[in-house]
Amino acid sequence: MLQERIPDLSKFVEPDRVRREVYTDTDIFELEMQRIHERVWIYCGHESQVPKTGDYYQVQIGRQPMLMVRGSDGSINVLYNRCPHRGNMMVGDRNGNSGEFFRCSYHAWTFKHDGRLRSIPMMESGYTGTRWGKDNPDCNMKPAARVENYRGFVFASLAADGPTLLEFLGESKVAFDDMCDRAPEGEVEIVPNCFRVIQHSNWKIFLENQLDALHPSVVHQSTGRAAHNVEKAIEKETGHAPLSYHMLSAFATVTIDKWDNFQTLSYPHGHCILAGYMGLRPTDPDTLAYDKIMIKAYGKKRFEEIVGVNIHHVLIYPGLSVQSPLQQLRAVRPLGVDRTLTEIWHFRLKGAPEPIYRRSLAYYNLVNSPATLINADDLENFWKCHQGLSSDGGDWVSFARHHGHDIEKNGVVETAPNCGTSEAPMRGQMKAWAEYMRG
Ligand code: FES
Ligand SMILES: [Fe+2]
Repeated sequence: MLQERIPDLSKFVEPDRVRREVYTDTDIFELEMQRIHERVWIYCGHESQVPKTGDYYQVQIGRQPMLMVRGSDGSINVLYNRCPHRGNMMVGDRNGNSGEFFRCSYHAWTFKHDGRLRSIPMMESGYTGTRWGKDNPDCNMKPAARVENYRGFVFASLAADGPTLLEFLGESKVAFDDMCDRAPEGEVEIVPNCFRVIQHSNWKIFLENQLDALHPSVVHQSTGRAAHNVEKAIEKETGHAPLSYHMLSAFATVTIDKWDNFQTLSYPHGHCILAGYMGLRPTDPDTLAYDKIMIKAYGKKRFEEIVGVNIHHVLIYPGLSVQSPLQQLRAVRPLGVDRTLTEIWHFRLKGAPEPIYRRSLAYYNLVNSPATLINADDLENFWKCHQGLSSDGGDWVSFARHHGHDIEKNGVVETAPNCGTSEAPMRGQMKAWAEYMRG
């Protein structure tokens, strides 16, 4: 049907602009789910979400309701949340523990944690002579075609073929290395539970915003300015302002021209990195105590390498945004052409002192949570963008900022010096989108 209505999807994406239907057309959305989200590696969750045998979390991959579950052998399985008998959802809760096995609430078929059929009530008398039984794979809960884990972060692909997880991630794996390496024990632990926000706009609008270095000093200026005023007042009164205020006031003090000094890098598969902003090397007593533990764990040279990684954001297309230096992650789950769920998680660095965790928590609450004005600032624009794109007020979305200045080397596009606010990351994402959509 889509083929008849939209004969050539490639005409919708030009190097510096994209047709509005890419964001608003329900048939294009369905095709995106088939050709992108239900094919590529999608982040399911962190292994520390399911520490014990039988622990599970529901996760949406494209349009498919899935379960991430810990097996008795310690492995993590990703299964469709569906009973092979008559299709009942296997679990209704978002997360929990299934006990020694899954038991369907309808007719009590039971399944091992890898999805294999364990028992059916009165199986012999009921099923002898039929095609149904333990030897028939149709009687198992269906597993995701592929599951892989990188440094504790679990991904699944619903397609049997395609690149391995590491091939897919390429350079973007730095998101997980940077986060884990900052832990004295080399690992992170999730802090349950997450915030969930449903935005009334297309999923791509969220992803584009993550590396949109021009918007923060416009969209978040009022929030930053209010925080800056309070920060100054506290400083005047007490001699120093808490570090957490800086997380907000930076939105006012880092002006548009300064954002142009940062750099973005766009990689194959649509992944991108915003580098050069965090610069988090404060010298307060908490940080110095942490530095000491890190040097003991890694040695001075390796420590300098680890804390010298200067990343603001890593975007792993099509559904993950990671802020590794502050241990934050947002998973993007499209629910419909104009509805997108984001799960907002944060992590604890294993072996790091409590104040370092508190810093991550402060950023989580002040910048990424639904309670902060920063998030509200963005959500308002996402909704307004989707409204505008749904109108007949124009056919194209422009990604022309600094177009023609990109520096391409071996498939990696770097923004030219002083072009940090370039729309190169959006161009890179849409190029990948067009490739995926060709099937
Ligand atoms: S639907 Fe699950 S046992 Fe019948
Ligand atoms: Fe923003």
